[in-house]
Amino acid sequence: MNYNIAVIPGDGIGPEIIGEARKILDKVGAVYHHLFDYTEVLMGGISIDTYGVPLTDEALETAKKSDSVLLGAVGGNVGNSKWYDVAPNLRPEAGLLAIRKGLNLFANIRPAYLYKELADACPLKKEIIGDGFDMVIMRELTGGLYFGDRYTKEVDGVMTAVDTLTYNENEIRRIAVKAFDIAMKRKKQVISVDKANVLDSSRLWRKVVEEVAQDYPEVTLNHMLVDNCAMQLVMNPGQFDVILTENMFGDILSDEASMITGSIGMLSSASMNESKFGMYEPSHGSAPDIAGKNIANPIATILSAAMMLRYSFDLDREADAVEAAVEQVLKEGYRTGDIYSDGFKKVSTTEMGDLIAERII
Ligand code: NAD
Ligand code: IPM
Ligand code: MN
Repeated sequence: MNYNIAVIPGDGIGPEIIGEARKILDKVGAVYHHLFDYTEVLMGGISIDTYGVPLTDEALETAKKSDSVLLGAVGGNVGNSKWYDVAPNLRPEAGLLAIRKGLNLFANIRPAYLYKELADACPLKKEIIGDGFDMVIMRELTGGLYFGDRYTKEVDGVMTAVDTLTYNENEIRRIAVKAFDIAMKRKKQVISVDKANVLDSSRLWRKVVEEVAQDYPEVTLNHMLVDNCAMQLVMNPGQFDVILTENMFGDILSDEASMITGSIGMLSSASMNESKFGMYEPSHGSAPDIAGKNIANPIATILSAAMMLRYSFDLDREADAVEAAVEQVLKEGYRTGDIYSDGFKKVSTTEMGDLIAERII
């Protein structure tokens, strides 16, 4: 079968990790007789340099017409890149927010589990790791602080910046339904994370999540405040199955969760709409500090491509093959710098991609 994938390499390490994910998809195509057609799309800093905006209407249209989207990462050094000191809607990240909104990708799925082989790279003590952990962060992606009104202006002679956090019940309900649906295929435990001791939006969040839970009697629902959750993640990560949370909390908690898997270079991510359409990208950013050195870990992007095969194309066998190849390479002791420690075999970005591709048979 033919699949038409819009590919957005983006900035920094984006093109490097996307190269490896394409290598893997090509190998899957050759072994399992599929044809993956790629249409390259510019977004982020490279689009600003080329067209003056972080996402053109044409780029969004190309993504809309595709079967799915594969994204590297966008953005430069925050604070001191040429793309920073401009209007917020002209920054690279504005392209990412616009494509998420434009494609209605409200459900962000970020699985965080510990490969046994990576226990050495996990900064937690062995007693805390125990039998490991396997959780999914379900992050709302098109609402909250990211999409509320924002402005900076002088109020009574004082510079004042405003960001607005808004959620309506429909936005909360649809992500909650996704979280409970996923929980039904897992350990049937949802922990909804909020700040209901302070925020109105969190109190509405809790109420709506409770209502959705009524339709899932087999699923256990608990609530946790976000500051406590940040602590619990490093105290007892094994307690989590599905974490359901709003946009900003999910952003922060997923970076934290990534580190206990060994590295942010391991955490995959799928951003989905109501149907099977999705944009697949690593959870990490464009890592300007290591760009162009062929040392970035491509595994998060490769595992995101596996999620694409599974969620958008229903190619479970192929997704299993990619995940097994990643596990095999880790078992054989190959490590990029971010997950490397003494006694393992250090490899580059491209070598890691080759090793994984070779093991897809
Ligand atoms: P980052 O995730 O890019 O990097 C944080 C740290 O993790 C850096 O030290 C980096 O070298 C390391 N790292 C990240 N990915 C890695 C990988 N695959 N292998 C090895 N090490 C890796 O976060 P940041 O530095 O805060 O942000 C840099 C830029 O990326 C910013 O412009 C930010 O807005 C953007 N960003 C984009 C996305 C996206 O496009 N989806 C996501 C997050 C951040
Ligand atoms: C992510 C990123 C983005 C986010 C930024 C780049 C806008 O950090 O995908 O996690 O905060 O959603
Ligand atoms: Mn993030």
